[in-house]
Amino acid sequence: MEKYIIMGGNPLSGSVRISGAKNAVLPILAASLLSSGLTVIYDVPRLRDVQVMKEVLEFLGCSIEWSGSTMKIDGSKVNSIEISDFLMRKMRASNLVMGPLLTKFGSAKVSFPGGCAIGSRPMDLHLKGLSIMGAVIEEKFGFIEAVASGGRLKGSEICFDFPSVGATENLMMAAVLAEGKTVISNAAKEPEIVDLQKFLNNMGAKVSGAGTDVIIIHGVDELTATEHTVIPDRIEAGTFMTAAAITRGNIKIENIHLRHMEAIVAKLKDMGVKLFEEDFGVRVIGPDVIKPVDIKTMPYPGFPTDMQPQMMALLSIAQGTSIISENIFENRYKHVDELRRMGADIKVEGRIAVIKGKNKGSLSGTFVNTSDLRAGAALAIAGLGAEDATIVDSIYHIDRGYENFEQKLRGLGAKVIRVTETNKGMEK
Ligand code: EPZ
Repeated sequence: MEKYIIMGGNPLSGSVRISGAKNAVLPILAASLLSSGLTVIYDVPRLRDVQVMKEVLEFLGCSIEWSGSTMKIDGSKVNSIEISDFLMRKMRASNLVMGPLLTKFGSAKVSFPGGCAIGSRPMDLHLKGLSIMGAVIEEKFGFIEAVASGGRLKGSEICFDFPSVGATENLMMAAVLAEGKTVISNAAKEPEIVDLQKFLNNMGAKVSGAGTDVIIIHGVDELTATEHTVIPDRIEAGTFMTAAAITRGNIKIENIHLRHMEAIVAKLKDMGVKLFEEDFGVRVIGPDVIKPVDIKTMPYPGFPTDMQPQMMALLSIAQGTSIISENIFENRYKHVDELRRMGADIKVEGRIAVIKGKNKGSLSGTFVNTSDLRAGAALAIAGLGAEDATIVDSIYHIDRGYENFEQKLRGLGAKVIRVTETNKGMEK
């Protein structure tokens, strides 16, 4: 198992370039199934989750060339509509191929995506929307089989009970080749959904309204392959902002869209972090003292749940008490016990976490274990601000969503190395 060994106490300095957004590139890769040509995507981050989506597309018959941050997908020979249970269990977002397969080939078969460390993560909103569009859906033996009745989905009016990101993306993709007009109300408004709309429209689709809560799609008969550059990853950028803040550092973040991060920036400024635009980037300066704040995670443009663990790590050393309310996932506090091992004073009651900051004190390095992607990032951030060494285990979770994480941190002056535990001890 690979681990990080992090020596805390170093104020970060220098500059870091943000990679393409994981949560934008995954639906866009799924959408490449909608054309039979050669799709070219730039600024693709080298992440485990992107590798899994590549395997999913190859399992379906795509041939893919991935060199550096450019990925070329040839969808001309897709010969399957089924994703194996093994692949589905590797990554929930594999379910994003359902809409494209159903609308292009008339059927799709995926296994129930497993829950994960942050919650049960059902697909009811995806399936309800697809059945309204005329898909006949059968759930048996752990698989979900969907067939478009009459061979083609029908444009429909869909209103989500909750603005689900994945369900919005799946239904957008299902609707682009459906017969007639589809209206998705109470749609998710994330920037990654706007990026998907741009990609689909460059393929010849007719999608409008992404970024608002009503998305309108007029179905067309065919789409053609296109080229696309993925937007920067706002959660990676936010993670580096908390790294600068917890080490009282002064860094420059490049390749960033601040307009995608208003809730994150507003909270960091309330905490005393200085942020301002500087030629082609953002300057982030950590204060001597972090002020406590209250955070409620909400659908975009509210505060993103994917930044909750990282902010909790930072609030653990604030000068006072903060309250976090996690309103998106029912179980996204697995990092709390690990932060407590580092000396954080945190109490959790249901969806509420009360964090009593260490004030001038700091966390202390120890051995901690990672349960999921953002929890791992939070523990690394805590280690950067802790005294002595912190050993973060199971860092394959971090590799799912952060490209060259330790290299980027080292480039900012952090003391972090990746080690592999063997029967001979730890090897770098
Ligand atoms: C996307 O997941 C992101 N993943 C998540 O990022 C992110 O945390 C989440 O949106 C919320 O912003 C990708 O984009 C690949 P949801 P998704 O559907 O689409 C419930 C990360 O760290 N729900 O908006 O799965 C669900 O259980 C990851 O990068 C239903 O009840 O999220 C959850 O409580 C983690 N029924 C809430 O909605 C459904 O059919 C939000 O889920 C679908 C979702």
